[in-house]
Amino acid sequence: MIKEQLKQKISDKTACIGVIGLGYVGLPLIVEFCLKGFKGIGFEVDTKKADAINKGDSYIVDVPSENVQKCLDSEKLEATTDFSKLSDCDVIIICVPTPLRKTKDPDMSYILASGREIQKYMRKGQLVILESTTYPGTTDEVLQPMFEEKGFKLDEDFLLAFSPERVDPGNPQFLTHNITKVVGGVGKDSTEVATELYANIVNTVHPVSSARVAEACKLWENTFRAINIGMANEMAKVCNALNIDTWEVVRAAATKPFGFMPFYPGPGIGGHCIPLDPHYLSWKARQHGFDSQFITLAEQINSGMPKYVAGLVRDALNDQQKSVKGSKILILGVAYKKDIDDMRESPALSVIDLLRSRGANVVYHDAFVPEVTFDHAYTIGDGEPLYNQEFTDELISSSDCVVICTEHSDVDYKRVCELASVIVDTRNALKEDLREESKAKIVRL
Ligand SMILES: NC(=O)c1ccc[n+]([C@@H]2O[C@H](COP(=O)([O-])OP(=O)(O)OC[C@H]3O[C@@H](n4cnc5c(N)ncnc54)[C@H](O)[C@@H]3O)[C@@H](O)[C@H]2O)c1
Repeated sequence: MIKEQLKQKISDKTACIGVIGLGYVGLPLIVEFCLKGFKGIGFEVDTKKADAINKGDSYIVDVPSENVQKCLDSEKLEATTDFSKLSDCDVIIICVPTPLRKTKDPDMSYILASGREIQKYMRKGQLVILESTTYPGTTDEVLQPMFEEKGFKLDEDFLLAFSPERVDPGNPQFLTHNITKVVGGVGKDSTEVATELYANIVNTVHPVSSARVAEACKLWENTFRAINIGMANEMAKVCNALNIDTWEVVRAAATKPFGFMPFYPGPGIGGHCIPLDPHYLSWKARQHGFDSQFITLAEQINSGMPKYVAGLVRDALNDQQKSVKGSKILILGVAYKKDIDDMRESPALSVIDLLRSRGANVVYHDAFVPEVTFDHAYTIGDGEPLYNQEFTDELISSSDCVVICTEHSDVDYKRVCELASVIVDTRNALKEDLREESKAKIVRL
């Protein structure tokens, strides 16, 4: 009954879609539904974000403000901090953060807070979908009992599913519609309805037999990345020790048409996903008496990379008869990856902190990031905030060392090669022609 009712509303687009959390995941998702003709209500705790959306201003790079405005003009989209409107929704999708506690255990507080709001305002006939990345079992161990506590029965009064988000911020090639969506319901009806829902906004939906499979699928994907990046980082250190060009090796290996997928080294891993998600898996595995050693090893290697990069800077300065202490070091790119503004877990923060703790005067240029702040609980340097410096000839030439932490497309690396004296390139941003012409001493990862 609930299944048929919801399927009908989805098929004639009268279903109202509520999205809790309008961040990197939630905002693109709700806009996509509204552009496809659904009514969408976005729920936020951050009043500034809700206000910005209601004014047509997007704060997420991959979501153009024109699209938000289009949804507002057609009266399809509304953002609110009033959670009582959850009862107006037929579908509720949870897209809130899933960070780690300082002890590296999952911080479930955002999912729990969303669950409590839903519990308060839920009515019969709704489908709830969790999209936040989390450990296998969250949907049926944590959310399902919360809704059942209200006296509601799964399949009769509500449906419940998990569908991992795979958005790749800053990657224009893959957007919501052309990334296959994995969907796993707590029960067959939930899978069926959630699959029909997502088929409206993505080309391919891949249903699986349970929410747990879908939860584990997301963690497998991101653990795969964390471990392979860890291996690439280790290979870079091996190549450096053997004086072999890391990047040439990986480029050559990538010509193999099967059995190899290139991953690249860097100053560490960042973002809200890759450094965190494997811990959700290992935490859950530990509860079942299993110690996931690959995850631990990859974490050790990846989190050690900023120190390795700081060591490269020290050695490069040493070759110039300079010390880190008292040197001016320019960091190019501080966001955790190319062409985006996201600073979460960015390894550049650790590189800066390490260099400052050794007495360097660090400045940075990143047009995407106006200001960098440091969490005093973690810093060993002075922890003072830094501000984006204009990219001038003077900035480059006055620096004792330039460290490329993130390769942004808008940076003129030719100019850097012409004006810098020493460059540490952790991203292979300086291609062969630039390196050949460069007067600077270049050290690469
Ligand atoms: N960013 C990515 O690339 C990405 C990719 C795949 C999966 N994920 C996962 O998606 C989830 C969301 O990540 P994100 O990057 O969108 O986070 P985000 O921080 O960009 O957005 C989360 C939003 O939720 C809001 N929020 C927090 N608590 C809330 C509450 N109780 N009610 C309503 N809103 C609340 C915050 O104000 C914020 O705007 C996480 O579990 C993350 O691991 C993220």
